[in-house]
Amino acid sequence: MFEEQVKQTVRSGLARLRGSPGNVTRDFYDHLFKAAPSVRPLFRDDVDVQADKLLDMLVVLVQSLDHLQELVTEIESLGVRHAAYGVKEEHYILVARVLMATLRDHISNWSDQDENAWGMLLDYVADLMITGAREANGAAA
Ligand code: HEM
Repeated sequence: MFEEQVKQTVRSGLARLRGSPGNVTRDFYDHLFKAAPSVRPLFRDDVDVQADKLLDMLVVLVQSLDHLQELVTEIESLGVRHAAYGVKEEHYILVARVLMATLRDHISNWSDQDENAWGMLLDYVADLMITGAREANGAAA
């Protein structure tokens, strides 16, 4: 699905991630709530619990780059759950932007190639999540 070079770039990025996973995700939430205070109420008070799940999910995605098709249903279901959390389609662009800024800060020697590769992966996941939510919404209507 993704070209080999894109997959290698993403894998190498994850391997170059600096700081503990907890720090990375805490930075992500700090950025996110600063950029968009209005999304804060969607999350539980203690985002640390949630934080690990987001990073775990990214790791699973990167480890699954050779067979992402097998995760399509799971990612679409994740999108359905997100709609139930109150997440709107426009939030995905925001989250992708903040996530990208966080990765840029924490991955050493970040380059345009990293930016492109992670952008493609995040777009792919967000599109599937949005599709899942739309389909569930259509089915319920
Ligand atoms: C790249 C796209 C995203 C990924 C991979 C992702 C991943 C996850 C995962 C794995 C969970 C754990 C709960 C579950 O599995 O249902 C979760 C929960 C959550 N996510 Fe996301 N997410 C993404 C985008 C977003 C966006 C755009 C928002 C909107 C602000 C958002 C808000 C939330 C909220 C509110 C929860 C529940 C938190 C809680 O229980 O306190 N996520 N996300």
